[in-house]
Amino acid sequence: MDLGLKESTAFITGGAGTLGLAMARRFVQEGCNVVVCDTNQDAIDAACEELTALGGQALGVRADVTSKDEVAQAVQKATDRWQKVDVLVNNAGFARDSYLTRMREEDWHAVLDVTLLGAFHCSRAVLPLMMAQRYGRIVNIASRAHLGNPGQTNYSAAKAGLIGFTRSLALESGKFGITANAVAPGVISTPRMQQRPDYAELTERAKSNTPVARLGDPADVAATVAFLASRLAGFTTGETVHVTGGRYA
Ligand SMILES: NC(=O)c1ccc[n+]([C@@H]2O[C@H](COP(=O)([O-])OP(=O)(O)OC[C@H]3O[C@@H](n4cnc5c(N)ncnc54)[C@H](O)[C@@H]3O)[C@@H](O)[C@H]2O)c1
Repeated sequence: MDLGLKESTAFITGGAGTLGLAMARRFVQEGCNVVVCDTNQDAIDAACEELTALGGQALGVRADVTSKDEVAQAVQKATDRWQKVDVLVNNAGFARDSYLTRMREEDWHAVLDVTLLGAFHCSRAVLPLMMAQRYGRIVNIASRAHLGNPGQTNYSAAKAGLIGFTRSLALESGKFGITANAVAPGVISTPRMQQRPDYAELTERAKSNTPVARLGDPADVAATVAFLASRLAGFTTGETVHVTGGRYA
């Protein structure tokens, strides 16, 4: 199936991380140019090397999404190279878990800022470009944790907030040919998770508590993001698609 992404430009925040790089691989397979935006320069370099080896066009930009100036510079580098941004994936994010009674105020701010302020700066930086070309796709990476999870009040609040952000942005920008959707992954088997001492137990538990009876794979998330970022998804906006193997159902 041709997703119509050839010669498009996708800007992925956190693009050098596990899920971001899986998305970048998928975009490159579709013939889409990729901007890998991240704070980790070594990871950016490794990601771009891999994407280029796959035959893709990748541009690495080091930027902290919580900085308006760094985001503006990163988007400028993308347009210097490709003159446009068709797809924005607000994927940069992390958890800083602890029960609320013990949560440090800085961990509250860090998680909300990378998720919400990051999406705010990045979306505002690309929207004028998308509005001018009357076309754009914004995909925000939330989490099943938006439903609530003990130890994750900051992360759940941030991801639930990102879903609200997505819905409002969809309502504001549809008339410009721009869609905004969220993807909410469940438990995904990442290299970090595979190093956990209880990984075997988590794998077994997924077989019993997940309808599709396995952990998620980064490629599962990337496939859903690619569809929402594609030309095919032009009449789908304001949605949250759960990639949880049915655990949302
Ligand atoms: N892995 C999962 O199981 C899972 C499940 C649900 C949701 N998510 C969400 O998916 C997204 C990606 O997660 P991941 O598992 O790939 O994590 P990851 O840590 O592998 O990747 C995140 C990337 O974001 C970058 N980053 C962090 N802060 C940044 C900032 N301020 N500006 C720019 N880049 C920054 C990091 O350097 C890293 O490369 C996150 O938003 C996460 O909340 C992940």
